[in-house]
Amino acid sequence: MQDRVRKAVFPVAGLGTRFLPATKAIPKEVLPLVDRPLIQYAIDEARAAGIDEFIFVTAKGKSALEDYFDSAPEIERSLREKGKTDLLKALEPSEMPSGAIAYVRQQEALGLGHAVWCARRLIADEPFAVVLPDDVIEADTPCLAQMVEAYAEYRGAIVAAMEVPKDQIKSYGVLDVEADHGSVVKMKGMVEKPDPDKAPSNLAVIGRYILPPSVLDNLSQMKRGAGGEIQLTDAIADEIEAGRPVHGFRFAGRRFDCGSKQGYLQATVAFALARPDLAGEFADFLASTVEYARAAQ
Ligand code: UTP
Repeated sequence: MQDRVRKAVFPVAGLGTRFLPATKAIPKEVLPLVDRPLIQYAIDEARAAGIDEFIFVTAKGKSALEDYFDSAPEIERSLREKGKTDLLKALEPSEMPSGAIAYVRQQEALGLGHAVWCARRLIADEPFAVVLPDDVIEADTPCLAQMVEAYAEYRGAIVAAMEVPKDQIKSYGVLDVEADHGSVVKMKGMVEKPDPDKAPSNLAVIGRYILPPSVLDNLSQMKRGAGGEIQLTDAIADEIEAGRPVHGFRFAGRRFDCGSKQGYLQATVAFALARPDLAGEFADFLASTVEYARAAQ
């Protein structure tokens, strides 16, 4: 079996209902953070982790996403003629070598686990990453690269994890911890969307995973879990049942849930303030706007 993590799956077939009405016409993955769509941040993170095969699980209405990774000869010609080399350079990260990107379709939104299973033939028999592009992570070392390093030591399945407040735990897959080693925790179970009082911990899974191909076999059972969906969490919990190692990984970095309005707005502010070309004027604007809003209350 191939040992290196070379492939990443990007499940983008969800309905994005939290962002309606915008997502009626635009996939949430192409919503921009400053001037780059969410999906670009996910691709950059995967590349930094050594991924060179990118598998998208898409659905009806996601063609803008496919267009984004196509070449744009008219725009490029015009920029070249005008000598706008900086803008030509800005287009480079969206260019993919031929054959590096593949699309499979999830005909019905039956859940994240089902979306990953739809990519099984392209993943074949090797470990793979799963990246949810609406989780954007600001980090010195990109989150997936941190996880690939942990994978080299621990093998098996590794899920990114972070502490969340009790009142939010119901929105997440939650880790049942056997042994806590700091950044890495050994797991003895995993529960999707538990009641806060029954949650085994306050450590929640967020949208980065490294998984062995046996998870695809678990998904083939098509078990319906929380919300009647085929849950990736349940297929990972099955790994533990089968006696294979599953670890949680407390990554270093700040995660924004860009599938929610609050997270998306916070990420926009954080990423704009991290941009030297925008930060000064934008920070002044924010400070005066907050002052104005407070005074008006
Ligand atoms: P979410 O839980 O964020 O669902 O899915 P969603 O449909 O995208 O958004 P809301 O909750 O309606 O606003 C997490 C990830 O799993 C993918 C989504 O595209 C997202 O990247 N997903 C989810 C699928 O690809 N297929 C599914 O059936 C469900």
